[in-house]
Amino acid sequence: MRVTIALLLFLFAACGDSVPPPWEPPPDEPFVYALPEGIPPPREVEGEPLTRPRVELGRHLFYDVRLSLNREQSCASCHRQERAFTDGRKTSVGSTGEEHHRNAMSVVNVAYFPTLTWANPLLRSLAQQALVPLTGEDPIELGIGGHEDEVIDRLRDDPRYQALFPLAFPEDDDPYSLHNVVVALSAFQRSIVSFRSRYDRFMYGRDRSALTAEELEGMNLFLSERFECFHCHGGFLFSDSISHDGVLFEELPFHNTGLYNVDGEGGYPAHDPGLFELTFEPSDMGRFRAPSLRNVAVTAPYFHDGSAATLEEVLDHYARGGRLIEDGPFAGDGAENPWKSDLVREFPMLEREKRAILAFLNALTDEPLLKDPAFANPWPKGHESGP
Ligand code: HEC
Ligand code: HEC
Repeated sequence: MRVTIALLLFLFAACGDSVPPPWEPPPDEPFVYALPEGIPPPREVEGEPLTRPRVELGRHLFYDVRLSLNREQSCASCHRQERAFTDGRKTSVGSTGEEHHRNAMSVVNVAYFPTLTWANPLLRSLAQQALVPLTGEDPIELGIGGHEDEVIDRLRDDPRYQALFPLAFPEDDDPYSLHNVVVALSAFQRSIVSFRSRYDRFMYGRDRSALTAEELEGMNLFLSERFECFHCHGGFLFSDSISHDGVLFEELPFHNTGLYNVDGEGGYPAHDPGLFELTFEPSDMGRFRAPSLRNVAVTAPYFHDGSAATLEEVLDHYARGGRLIEDGPFAGDGAENPWKSDLVREFPMLEREKRAILAFLNALTDEPLLKDPAFANPWPKGHESGP
């Protein structure tokens, strides 16, 4: 009898939310992408094979506030799953309160991008990119520059890491290093692929009823020569900046879309002139990478500086062939920007066409992604704010 009661109590507890299953490290296996037919896998990264322990280690690190010096932030503070890994802010704020001048990008499908961040043709590896938020000082994000050893020591003490680091890097005598931290972060981010929107069901799942008539009309407008969206947001990523297995020549395109014209000569705000900041080529003024439009309905606000609050505003900007800012420090007519891409030019847009294209953009959301336990915070409750 006592045994039965104990068993019942155990089953009761196991069914409730209060007792999560004990954590176990994943099996030591290669990571395998689950992709719809028609979507190629991302390129492999030399010397960084994807294994399940690496992905799992990367997920723990991505959500770990111990990776900021003051234990205030993790990568996930600015890359939130429910917003397709963006932060909902115009521009980001780092762990010490310092302002970033850019809008946080999604890390979804990031393995397909040949270059990383809004406008940097040289930043091409996710491991290398992770060092920027970790150690960068302008602005300070996680702020561990100069304190790397101290932070690595924090990780050594954690039982989960004691299981994960050796499994993820079996060839290393001492697997705890900043290098392995960024390789694991890269592995987790490479695992985040998103192709489960209603658009995908229509396109790759051959489910012709997955999109409504209005959304289909929006899709056709998106693909039309009048709207021109597909030129820069084409293909399965909805971005012309793409790399995957089988791509022979990678293009590294950046575009000026006529958002600003602060001096009447095509200038962008001095604190962020885009590609020009690195190349000093006049024609690179205001050029940025075209973001993927997957999940765009949940990643507001928009553009490199979060300067458009809604998708409607974005559409009005394109239909006008550039943005007019009437007053303030950035006043100017972006439509007259001499460096603007030829593909951004004024076009007529009926109210109902606008609604259709908005409906189409809303059909690009991968709802399961936003809650997928594989990409969620793996730490038990109470751990989020640090040990
Ligand atoms: C303070 C907020 C903040 C934190 C913390 C942060 N990021 Fe970001 N992330 C951003 C911003 C802002 C950008 C755009 C940067 C740019 O264009 O210069 C970005 C861009 C990226 C990109 C480029 C995506 C693309 O499509 O090219 C990746 C990858 C990324 N972050 C990963 C990480 C990782 C990994 C961490 C943790 C180590 C992290 N971020 C921490 C705000 C943040
Ligand atoms: C010349 C290439 C080009 C064309 C044509 C183009 N875009 Fe873009 N798009 C970009 C670039 C580049 C950005 C980023 C601009 C920036 O932040 O300065 C962008 C940004 C966006 C964003 C904001 C996404 C985000 O995450 O911030 C949306 C939405 C968007 N475009 C939709 C469209 C639609 C809809 C069309 C057709 C009406 C279109 N684009 C046509 C290149 C283009």
